[in-house]
Amino acid sequence: MFTVRKVVDDLYWVGGNDHRLELFENIHPIPKGVSYNSYVLLDEKTAVFDTVDWSVAREYLDNIKGVLDGRDLDYLVINHMEPDHAASIEEVLLRYPEAIVVSTERSFMMMSQFGFHIDLEKRLEVKEGDSLSLGKHNLVFVEAPMVHWPEAMVTFDATNGVLFSADAFGSFGALDGKLFADEVNFDRDWIDDARRYYTNIVGKYGPFVQDLLGKAATIDIKVICPLHGPIWREDLGYFLEKYDRWSKYVPEEKGVMIVYASMYGNTEQAAQALASKLCERGMTNVEVFDVSNTHVSYLISEAFRLSHIVLASVTYNLNIYPVMYNFLHEMKLLSVQNRTVGILENGSWAPTSGGLMEEFIDEELKLVDVLGEQVSISSSLKDTDDSDLDRMADALIESIEKTEI
Ligand code: FEO
Repeated sequence: MFTVRKVVDDLYWVGGNDHRLELFENIHPIPKGVSYNSYVLLDEKTAVFDTVDWSVAREYLDNIKGVLDGRDLDYLVINHMEPDHAASIEEVLLRYPEAIVVSTERSFMMMSQFGFHIDLEKRLEVKEGDSLSLGKHNLVFVEAPMVHWPEAMVTFDATNGVLFSADAFGSFGALDGKLFADEVNFDRDWIDDARRYYTNIVGKYGPFVQDLLGKAATIDIKVICPLHGPIWREDLGYFLEKYDRWSKYVPEEKGVMIVYASMYGNTEQAAQALASKLCERGMTNVEVFDVSNTHVSYLISEAFRLSHIVLASVTYNLNIYPVMYNFLHEMKLLSVQNRTVGILENGSWAPTSGGLMEEFIDEELKLVDVLGEQVSISSSLKDTDDSDLDRMADALIESIEKTEI
């Protein structure tokens, strides 16, 4: 038994869905699962594009066998060597020992590092602009370093306009029968997971994504086949625009995310009071997060979406609350920039978190402004803090009005 879907003439999706994995890369929660996409192209010669994670290898091998229907496999194209896509290389080659593996020099080097054995005579090393004819279909290879690893490439089928885009244009979320972005309500049900996938997996490498988008603009792409999530065959501009924005670190929307670190609810109360004041002033695109119970991957995703961020942190061990510090550190690692940040601190005898958060932002983050109007509360919110919160809300509104999206 095999479970495949036709993508376009001659091309079939043969991947698998994983609902058992809790943490992608053992760090990012994936409550909706994930898909590992692989594709089989049937021509005078046959080709498989990338493999799958070990967890779905058994059904995957059945899928390949079903589509090949007795034919041999001529080429195994590896666009991306990360084990969630390359773990099953040897399993494929055991069954199709005549297949030639097509990939970049760096990818073959990394296969050796990971212990994947490919005989030298079975390797076809390609570089930018090289092409390979399968008969009717002509494949062109395009290097895509750091999207998401240095060895990555994408493959363009110049015959039908299909781009095998590796990690680019992927998303968290299992497909569960659907295959195309136009078969789901992507903007309602998928965009948050797509953003969280992009920002946490590739977000650091915006300039490299911009390079790839520049190359993509020179070819006539009709279908995008990523390694995770739905395939794009309609309204490609929607997703290309998101990628352009994310990789330039330009916010999608005017709005405020308020992230609070609160031990006994007092800093939380201040965060909620500020949220109310923003909504009273007409800015209702406000999201409030407890940093202690929101996985940082969701916070990073929101930081890429919205134009303004408020960090409200209790002082802890004379420092920034550790989980808030972790969020700041992740913002640095993932190159969050072009944002305006408001700072609210709380402390009972020596409040230091506000000054330390400002120092971190000034020294470690690029192109992030700190609002002058800051709030410092002593243990609990009091009537006397109201005017400071009003000033911060006014300053945020003023800054949002000046922001160009
Ligand atoms: Fe889905 Fe970078 O691997």
